[in-house]
Order: sequence, then C-alpha cells, then structure tokens
Amino acid sequence: MAAAAAGALLLWAPVAAAQEAGPPEPPPDELGEAVREIERLDALRSGLARSFLGSGGDVDRETFRNVCQPVGKEMKSVAAENGWTVSQMAIRFRNPAHRADSAARTVMEEMERDPELMGTWRRTTMDGREGVRYFRRITVERACLACHGAKEERPAFVKEGYPEDRAHGFEVGDLRGVYSVFVPEDGGGDASDDGERR
Ligand code: HEC
Repeated sequence: MAAAAAGALLLWAPVAAAQEAGPPEPPPDELGEAVREIERLDALRSGLARSFLGSGGDVDRETFRNVCQPVGKEMKSVAAENGWTVSQMAIRFRNPAHRADSAARTVMEEMERDPELMGTWRRTTMDGREGVRYFRRITVERACLACHGAKEERPAFVKEGYPEDRAHGFEVGDLRGVYSVFVPEDGGGDASDDGERR
C-alpha cells in the first residue's frame, strides 16, 4: 500500500512539531519500526475488509475470522517478536478487553478535536518500565460498516457474541479507536509479554 507507506513517512513532521515542551528529542529508532508495523497492520485490516466487501458474501463469524481476527493475531506476533506491548483500544469498544485506558482516552479526545492528528507519542512508564508509547488513529471506512454501522444491521454473531457492544453506529471517517504500541527504553528484550491483555 503505497498510500499508507507515504502516510507513515509524513507522520513524523506534525508529530515532532507537536512535542513543544522541552528540547526536541528525536524518536528512538525502534519507534520508527513501530510506526511501520502499525501502518502494515492497518493496511492489512483495510485490505481484508475491502476484499470481503467485494466478495458479496454473508457477514458472519467466518467473515470476522477473515477481517479483525487476523489483525489481532498479527498484533500479538508483532508484540512478541519485538518485546513491545501492542493493543487496539476504543472508547466505544466491542470487546471489553479493548477499553481505552486514560492515556488512550486523552489521545482520542485530542484526535477528535484535531482531525489532522494521525499519530502521537509520549514518554511514559508501563509495568514499571520506562519507554515511549505510540498511538495511531483508526479510521472507519465504508467496508467497516457491515459490522460497525447501524445497531440493528449488525450481523447476528455480533449481536449474540457481544451483548454490551458499543462499537456500532459509526460513519465513514469517524475515529474508531487507536493502536497503542509501548516500546520499552531498554530495548524490549523481554519478549514474554504478548501484547493484547485480556
Ligand atoms: C466481519 C465483521 C467486521 C468487519 C467488516 C470489521 N470489524 Fe472490527 N471488529 C469486529 C469484531 C467482531 C470485533 C471484536 C473483536 C474481538 O472480540 O476481539 C471488532 C473489533 C474491532 C476493533 C477493536 C476495538 C473493539 O471495539 O473491540 C477495532 C479498532 C475495529 N474492529 C476496527 C475495524 C475497522 C477500522 C474496520 C474496517 C476497516 C473493521 N473493524 C471491520 C468485526 C468486524
């Protein structure tokens, strides 16, 4: 996806400009890698959703296996390979395991106010480790509406499987959530954390 790759490169300028407090600090090399991996994951989801939409098939559990599930699996392997903590979070979540924590919530509020803000990063600690946390916008596309559109039109497997679902009623262009990648400063040597916490 050339467009996504270009987006990833363009990302740095506004993100760096947003770090106004203190002396400008270049992002660690590993963060660039995290940005690339997230662009790849996001393109994977879009591609899968679109190819499904084009196939004209029924939206069911099988379709989900082919759209959001591979993305979740891929996220786990990216986390394990790099020693990062990778997750997807939302305020209006479907799976309660994806409930936005307070940092993610704050970033989403900023993104709601500033539609140009694709991504941002902060220094922080997670589980007692210092590091950098990168957030990337997740945008609703037409292909997502089959499962995240009108409440009544959600596929049966969603209505049954997610009784407390809040991830419906979205429109194209809406902010759906954020990807979050925590890159520990000590190089992420500990690969035992598989990212997605449940
Ligand atoms: C075939 C149905 C289907 C399609 C199409 C679909 N999703 Fe999902 N999506 C789901 C289901 C089901 C979950 C809950 C996954 C889980 O339990 O981990 C989910 C979860 C998510 C999550 C995790 C946060 C949460 O609320 O749990 C995000 C973010 C997300 N979808 C974004 C998208 C985007 C963006 C698109 C379009 C590019 C899309 N989805 C297309 C069914 C779908």
